[in-house]
Amino acid sequence: MIEQTLVLIKPDGVLRGIIGNIITRFENAGLKIVASKMQWIDKDFSKKHYSEHLEKAFYSGLETYITAGPVMAMVLEGNDVIEVVRKMVGSTEPKTALPGTIRGDYAHISTKHANENKKSVCNLIHASSNIQDASREIMLWFDPRDMYTYKRSGDEWME
Ligand code: CDP
Ligand code: MG
Repeated sequence: MIEQTLVLIKPDGVLRGIIGNIITRFENAGLKIVASKMQWIDKDFSKKHYSEHLEKAFYSGLETYITAGPVMAMVLEGNDVIEVVRKMVGSTEPKTALPGTIRGDYAHISTKHANENKKSVCNLIHASSNIQDASREIMLWFDPRDMYTYKRSGDEWME
């Protein structure tokens, strides 16, 4: 089923200058970028994006991490894209993320964000985890007028 998912290249990915490497993986996999923008979010916006984690012990570290610089936000579209992108991203903790995944290949050098005792797992990238989260997150980040429908060469091979 053709779906859409929200992907964020988090501040460590932007500050390390590896936006291009990450986007190339999605393009090579045949996924379509239907919206994108850079945005430096504030604490209020972080609380909306990560609403499911507000009560967690790691939330304050996560908030410091996600607001530490701009993020590159995008909406990707493709067959079963939510599950496919989660697989490409790899597991949350970089040291257990498999080689070949984005976190497994790039995130080992930035596993902790310095914030006194409240450290966050810095893992380069966010991807929506299910269809409900994807639709909520896409609505939070993007105006429908800034999302585009277009044909990519190769679309003729898709059902
Ligand atoms: O991003 P993902 O869906 O893989 O993980 P999550 O469980 O939804 O957590 C969101 C983010 O919070 C993670 O990507 C980490 O950056 C951070 N986190 C953390 O700092 N410490 C944890 N124990 C779990 C998550
Ligand atoms: Mg998550």
